[in-house]
Amino acid sequence: MKTIAVLVGSLRSGSFNLKLAKALEKLAEGRLKFVYPDLGSVPHYNDDLWSDLPASVTALKSAIDESDAVLFVTPEYNRTYSPLLANAIAWASRPYGKSSFMHKPGAVVGTSPGAIGTAAGQVDLRGLLPVLGVIPMGQPEVYLQMKPDLIDDASNVTVPDTEAFLKRWVDAFVAFVDRVAL
Ligand code: FNR
Repeated sequence: MKTIAVLVGSLRSGSFNLKLAKALEKLAEGRLKFVYPDLGSVPHYNDDLWSDLPASVTALKSAIDESDAVLFVTPEYNRTYSPLLANAIAWASRPYGKSSFMHKPGAVVGTSPGAIGTAAGQVDLRGLLPVLGVIPMGQPEVYLQMKPDLIDDASNVTVPDTEAFLKRWVDAFVAFVDRVAL
């Protein structure tokens, strides 16, 4: 089974994006293993720290290095992806020439209560993927407008059309990772 490093761009305990990640994990049960590196303990990016690298950064890079693919689950903050994600990406992309993302298949999804469901934030993030060395899955896309109780506490998607939509995305991602992962 392929392992996916899932980078969730929110620390909020009730994060809609974490809910989305968990729902996708459930829909991929038995087909993909999701691991969730702890982005919250990673310090602000600082070149000086490479001489005595914090364990949180080593753990982040190792989790991605050891995964077959990466999934970015991003909130939209001011029409771009979250600073938490930007910081984790900066660390994992360094040192120069040793990006943990290099040649990894990857995809971007996201959710927000807003009508465009993180579309603007995802556009920015997708533009970054080739720079990082990620081989992006272009289609299908997930721009999900979160509604109350759309995803329940057991990570079930409660609206059948939305569940089918997310399941199609999972099917495509499984096939993409199988085809592209080294
Ligand atoms: C937001 N939010 C937001 N939503 C959106 O659809 N487009 C946007 O540009 C923004 N901008 C924005 C900026 C900042 C600083 C914050 C804190 C929030 C609202 C955002 O979608 C909402 O807080 C989500 O709940 C964040 O995702 P999580 O934490 O639920 O995963």
